[in-house]
Amino acid sequence: MANSSQRALSSRKKVVLEPGCSPLDWARLTSSGENLRGIQPQDFPMKVDKKTLSLHNNRQDCWTVLKGRVYNITSYLRFHPGGIEEIMKCAGKDGTLLFMKYHAWVNYERMLENCLVGVYIG
Ligand code: HEM
Repeated sequence: MANSSQRALSSRKKVVLEPGCSPLDWARLTSSGENLRGIQPQDFPMKVDKKTLSLHNNRQDCWTVLKGRVYNITSYLRFHPGGIEEIMKCAGKDGTLLFMKYHAWVNYERMLENCLVGVYIG
């Protein structure tokens, strides 16, 4: 049976993240120099159309669009404080409206800077 703190968490839709998935861990990973864009450096920045975007729609390979920019959020999924299921609702699609609905205050441009793939051309 869920205890009161678990109930409080679930009603706020906040999930318990795996160890090593704190915001600080994410900050470390993004500054590690690892290629989080998942594309060749010479291909950056890409022009991404709707068809290409839609192919990157799963947990192993996940792109989304936020305000006209395409991000590879594959490596971020397990760090998402709202849980993987929620963030997967924007997989392979334009996630701008959902993102703004849940947390317009979140500074995704800085958080996902090194996950930027390019611009969305629709
Ligand atoms: C690339 C896309 C996204 C990023 C970078 C992102 C980032 C974040 C961050 C940083 C938080 C913590 C906010 C805080 O504590 O103030 C958060 C929480 C949350 N996010 Fe997202 N998010 C994304 C997409 C989504 C989507 C598509 C949904 C819903 C369909 C969603 C739903 C939530 C929910 C429910 C929470 C928990 C709010 C709470 O109770 O504290 N997020 N997200």
